[in-house]
Amino acid sequence: MTRNLLLRTRPSLRASRPHVPPTTPWHLPHRPYSLPSQEASLASLPPIDPSALTITRTTTPKPILPPSDLIFGRNFTDHMLTLEWTSSTGWHPPRILPYQNLSLDPATCVFHYAFECFEGLKAYKNRDGAISLFRPSKNMARLNNSAARICLPTVGDGKGLIELIARFAAMEERFIPAARGYSLYLRPTLIGTQRTLGVGPPGSALLFVIASPVGPYYPTGFKAVSLEATSYAVRAWPGGVGDKKLGANYAPCIMPQLQAAKRGFHQNLWLFGEEEYVTEVGTMNFFVAVRDRETGGKELWTAPLDGTILEGVTRDSVLALARERLVPEGWAVRERGFTMGELAAAADEGRLLEAFGTGTAVVVSPVRRIGWRGRNVDCGLREGEEAGDVAKRMKEWIEGIQYGDEQHPWSFKIR
Ligand code: COI
Repeated sequence: MTRNLLLRTRPSLRASRPHVPPTTPWHLPHRPYSLPSQEASLASLPPIDPSALTITRTTTPKPILPPSDLIFGRNFTDHMLTLEWTSSTGWHPPRILPYQNLSLDPATCVFHYAFECFEGLKAYKNRDGAISLFRPSKNMARLNNSAARICLPTVGDGKGLIELIARFAAMEERFIPAARGYSLYLRPTLIGTQRTLGVGPPGSALLFVIASPVGPYYPTGFKAVSLEATSYAVRAWPGGVGDKKLGANYAPCIMPQLQAAKRGFHQNLWLFGEEEYVTEVGTMNFFVAVRDRETGGKELWTAPLDGTILEGVTRDSVLALARERLVPEGWAVRERGFTMGELAAAADEGRLLEAFGTGTAVVVSPVRRIGWRGRNVDCGLREGEEAGDVAKRMKEWIEGIQYGDEQHPWSFKIR
């Protein structure tokens, strides 16, 4: 979009560009995939065109693993969806190809300056045999925000890409496990592919979507986890890119997670600032249910979208369902900043009812305790209890929509 705007204000750029022939199909053996640096341009671009899709089927179909053998993100389907883009020719015709390696020049900008963003969504097999996606337009909107921030091409209104993802997921139907809690995790990934060490907007990009049959994110299943509050490292900061789904936001999160694991915690809880605002948990958004000190009323809190919080699709769904279904029961739902000190005080006073993380991969992840300043903050679960009431109900409600038990506009039927 930014490019189109620029073009409108700078028409001479379009007029002066020489014709650039479409590039060689990238899946041919040893194609030097990346474009030379002079391909960079601000030209007006054709959008994604699902009607131009070509499909090449694998000749070596993979065996289907039993659901119990599935480990998150380890196994992939037979095919992948790919779309190339250049700044001079726009989005090239989409292709579904056999799953394969990419061939990239070592000077490709994604390797040097992290021009990469991604999405995560799932295809679900419904009880009646239908296949559905969950709120894919939310992923498209977020992909556009992430891409625009790092000068990669956007996907317009996202409808073309959703249609292609739907075609791809339908084609990989045999990999979608039918059992509840299982699905086909779809990973749209967008990378800058220009071959250059020069630091500038990539003149070429590749969007690919791969698919992985998955079961519950944690091998232990729906069990409460322990968190270590992290304040020595910061995940995101005001004016930064913590609200974008950039791969570069994830790599620096592993070390604090390992540190937490070394001290016996499952995950880390990201705090921010001297006040120790509670922001996210691992790679998930974070919710707490507390009783108000004055009124005793029940409240559901999560950190506000102030630019440091990822705009989680599950986060948004939990908030919407809470407003629709918990508020009539007397709950208050607040997107508000809250500190670790406030949480600890609520726990000490018996007002912290429960805490849970939310994300596409895990849906809902209940929390038992938080290690903070040498003590344990107990998150309200009783002995032997693995999830609080809100976490359980949210999981039921969201999965009910995802697996088609409840007819809901958030369910996008593929077929
Ligand atoms: C999610 O669950 O939404 C995530 O982003 C986790 C993924 C990076 C594995």
